[in-house]
Parts: sequence; structure tokens; C-alpha cells
Amino acid sequence: MENTKNKITIAIDGHSSTGKSTLAKALAKHLNYIYVDTGAMYRAVTWYAINNDLINSSGINEIALINSLDKISIGFTNISGKNHTNVNGLDVEGYIRGLEVANWVSKIASIPQVRKKLVAEQQYLGREKGVVMDGRDIGTVVFPDAELKFFMTADAKVRAQRRYDELTEKGESVNFEEVLSNVKERDFMDENREDSPLRKAKDAVLVDNSEMSREEQLEKILSLVKKLDI
Ligand code: DC
Repeated sequence: MENTKNKITIAIDGHSSTGKSTLAKALAKHLNYIYVDTGAMYRAVTWYAINNDLINSSGINEIALINSLDKISIGFTNISGKNHTNVNGLDVEGYIRGLEVANWVSKIASIPQVRKKLVAEQQYLGREKGVVMDGRDIGTVVFPDAELKFFMTADAKVRAQRRYDELTEKGESVNFEEVLSNVKERDFMDENREDSPLRKAKDAVLVDNSEMSREEQLEKILSLVKKLDI
């Protein structure tokens, strides 16, 4: 689809493992928009914390992490059409999707100072519109005035199966129950944190994709984009 008129902001929020990023990427490609994966930014901070001894068996050293935030520079590079997340110039894409980061990221994302830094960076990245951004608080906090908002969800077991397939494909040895409990735990933490809990914005379109293919989802969303006549 050619983007000939005014560029808009598209916010895609929802539960983990609902395929938000796959859909957001496809949508950005169709519209020739930029795509920002905000979950990768929270994962990048988590990676930094793990690799700088700011997390140990007794938990997160929050004060030290907060004091280090200015030293964490997150960027994205495109390698053969795929987005790679960088921390201080180091490509961490291969590390941020594993279970170790997944186990800590919701806790890191509940720290207000971490959110403040990343929200400001996200607002900067989307300042010129023409952006598809996916996360948990894009339609509620980062871009409450986004022209188009979606909230994606699916049955927890369906999501755990998708995540399990993804991890085993990458060679990680995990068991289904472990992945399911991680999915449920992340839902709980995302929905119950004090700062910017996961909520459907009032004006977001709900997409339950438990039984929808990727193509059906993209078609549904593109039909709404077309109605906006952009
Ligand atoms: O989308 P994801 O699974 O990569 O996100 C990783 C974690 O980061 C998830 O537990 C919630 C958190 N997150 C957030 O709090 N706000 C965002 N905008 C994006 C992600």
C-alpha cells in the first residue's frame, strides 16, 4: 500500500506472545512506516542488568540500576531486513529473547525510572509519526493520541504453545509448563504493576487472535487503516 497522505501513529498493545511484533512489522512494511519494538528496549535494559551484576540470587539491585540508566544506550540496526537491538553498540539480539531475560524483564519494566527513560526515547523515535510501535502502554501512555490503536490478546495456553515452539526452534531446552507459567506470571505482573499497567485503551480495537491466522489479522487491521484514508 502506498502511503500518499498524512502519516499517522499506530499503537499495538496487548499480552505477551500474541504476535504483536510480527503483525506490527508486517503493517510497517505495508505502509512504509518505521517499526519500534518497545519490548526489546525493556529486554535490553534487563540484559544490561544481568551482565553488569545488577541482578543476583537475592534480586535486582534497583538503586545501582537506576544510577546506571544514563550509561545504557539502546539502538536498533537493520541486518538483512531484520531488526537487531544494540546496547552500547553491542548487538544483543541473540540474547534478549531467551528465558533468563524473560524471567526478569517484567520486574525491570515495573521500575518507574526505567519506564520514564524508555518512554521518553520511544516518544522521540515516533516524533515524526509514520510509526508502528508495539508494547504494553503505547496507546495509553507513550502515544495516547495515536490515530489507530489495537489491543491484542489470546488464550494463555495458545500463547505458551507459540512461545514454546519459538524457543525449541532456537534450540533452547524448555518444558511447556515452565513456559506457560512464565506467560501467566508476565500477564499478572504487566497488569498489576503500579506504573502504567497493561490496559486496553478505551479507543483501542480488541483483536483476540486465539483462532486467527497472521494473514487474517493483517487483513483485519489493514481494512481499518484503509478506512482512515491515509
Ligand atoms: O513484548 P515483550 O514480550 O518483548 O516485552 C517484554 C516485557 O517488557 C514484558 O514483560 C512487558 C514489558 N514491556 C512493558 O512493560 N512496556 C512496553 N511498552 C513493552 C514491554
